Amino acid sequence: MVVIETPRSPRSRKSAKFERYGWLYMRFSGVALLVLIFGHLIINLVMNGGITQISFAFVAGKWADPFWKIWDGLMLWLALIHGTNGMRTIVNDYSERPMIRKTLNVALWVVCAALIILGTLVVTTFDPCVDSSVSHTLSVCK
Ligand code: HEM
Repeated sequence: MVVIETPRSPRSRKSAKFERYGWLYMRFSGVALLVLIFGHLIINLVMNGGITQISFAFVAGKWADPFWKIWDGLMLWLALIHGTNGMRTIVNDYSERPMIRKTLNVALWVVCAALIILGTLVVTTFDPCVDSSVSHTLSVCK
């Protein structure tokens, strides 16, 4: 009988339980990202004239609807945590010196946290109407 071991990076110092949740997260977030990323690409780059429609007004119009803010926010959080956790696995698999491994892993999560904070700030505070030289051209500001 084939025995499948609990997923675990050989040099990870996290518990097997943490690694199991990490493994599951990669699968569930992967499925969600398929919908979010391909939906994003189709709507932005294929439908309604494709890439030529992309402009400040396009973004302003899209983010006037909370649905797209949630969509983009989810894509930001899920992809960054997914990518960082994937890189953590690669670092734990390939870096042999504990000091380098620790430094790379800390750097990964610091960058991930910084990008999530900055991205979330952009998505939640974006206001296309603050600049009057542009806002008079936007229907969402009228
Ligand atoms: C289309 C959506 C995506 C799907 C379906 C997907 C799926 C997966 C799955 C199932 C794994 C685990 C592979 C394994 O353990 O052997 C994985 C690993 C990984 N993913 Fe994604 N992913 C997607 C998007 C992304 C994005 C946007 C990023 C970057 C931000 C990313 C970066 C990574 C990295 C770095 C790994 C680790 C690779 C490894 O362990 O060798 N993925 N992905």
